[in-house]
Amino acid sequence: MSEERFDLIERCEDILDCIDRKNTDCVKYDSIINKYGEDVIPAWIADMDFKTAPKILEAFVKRIEHGVFGYTFRSKNYYEAIVKWYEKRHNCKINSEWIVDGPGVVPMIAILVNTLTQPGDKVIIQPPVYPPFFAAIEKNERTIVENRLRRTQNSYQMDFENLEKVIDEKTKLMIISNPHNPVGRVWTYQELERLYSIALKYGLIIISDEIHADIIYKPNEFTSLLKVAQRNVIVLNSPGKTFNVPGLTNSYGIIPDKELRTFYNKAIEKLELTTGNIFGITALCAAYSQGEQWLTELIDFLQSNRDYVYDFVKKNMPLIDMTLPEGTFLMWLDCSKLRLENPQKFFLQNARVYLNNGADFGDPNSVRLNIACSRKTLEQIMERMKVAYDSLNHR
Ligand SMILES: Cc1ncc(COP(=O)(O)O)c(C=O)c1O
Repeated sequence: MSEERFDLIERCEDILDCIDRKNTDCVKYDSIINKYGEDVIPAWIADMDFKTAPKILEAFVKRIEHGVFGYTFRSKNYYEAIVKWYEKRHNCKINSEWIVDGPGVVPMIAILVNTLTQPGDKVIIQPPVYPPFFAAIEKNERTIVENRLRRTQNSYQMDFENLEKVIDEKTKLMIISNPHNPVGRVWTYQELERLYSIALKYGLIIISDEIHADIIYKPNEFTSLLKVAQRNVIVLNSPGKTFNVPGLTNSYGIIPDKELRTFYNKAIEKLELTTGNIFGITALCAAYSQGEQWLTELIDFLQSNRDYVYDFVKKNMPLIDMTLPEGTFLMWLDCSKLRLENPQKFFLQNARVYLNNGADFGDPNSVRLNIACSRKTLEQIMERMKVAYDSLNHR
């Protein structure tokens, strides 16, 4: 490893404060260790092993010292922070009136599926994709229509030809992951424009889940779907992934279309879900107004982890097929060529590494790796996986 690289890792790990998360009731470590044993390294669910930004912690301390935690509303500053974040980070102008509140991006997706479609209606998703997209449709008794991503030479692409073929009069909604979890594609303006033109032609509403929008590796640039169009577009987001605060269960939507916004707001009022969580609100304001410097360091570090894994897999596990993610702290490993019955189980049993099972994303031959951990942990994960891989004797 070059000295410069080593410096970067040291500097970033210092700033990011990588800490032991065990015995905090965290899903990533404790639920897996309780089930499979202390020797397993969890590398799955999408949160990070880093302390959140110091500015957020400072804001929490200040709020805690106040000592009163009564019912709290989201102030003008809260909505302004979101407007400014989209403008500054994503070069996207939004109006604060378009913003709606939510208790998490996933609950918002479920509420929107419920509100905007009827039982039996069809909703399009693009597997392999984030498992709750499937669940939100199925659990609400709507029908999933898959427009699977196409694996091209070095990338994954949306299949526009197939998309037109699968739409019929029952198809009402499409949910996209922008950027795409798990393959790490950062959709370009041209791709989103082409997608939107098809949606417009058939009268589909698009939900663009932009929760991974802030973790983008140069030279890629994030494009909000709102830059392409506003009609029939719903954007969902939160600082959960970016600032490692998903446990605060706070999120927002951006819905320029007044009619759709009213539908959504009525739905959350009906469910009495309008009250915000004080720490979720405090975190968003601090993150979006003071968290940028920390975020820059985070992206540098994640990029070096991404490059390390990519090079390691290419060199040491060449039968595992992967592309270089353009964004997100997730990496998608296609293990088809290993001809394993269940790659996730294989690496759990033989490497004692717990990865996400690709089957949950709609592809049983793949696994998803979370790289938002210390370099030391990541190296252990890779070395263990290599030993398990080598034991297959490249059959
Ligand atoms: C694409 C995507 N959407 C939403 C979420 C979760 O959102 P929330 O925790 O706000 O429900 C995740 C978490 O991994 C995700 O990857």
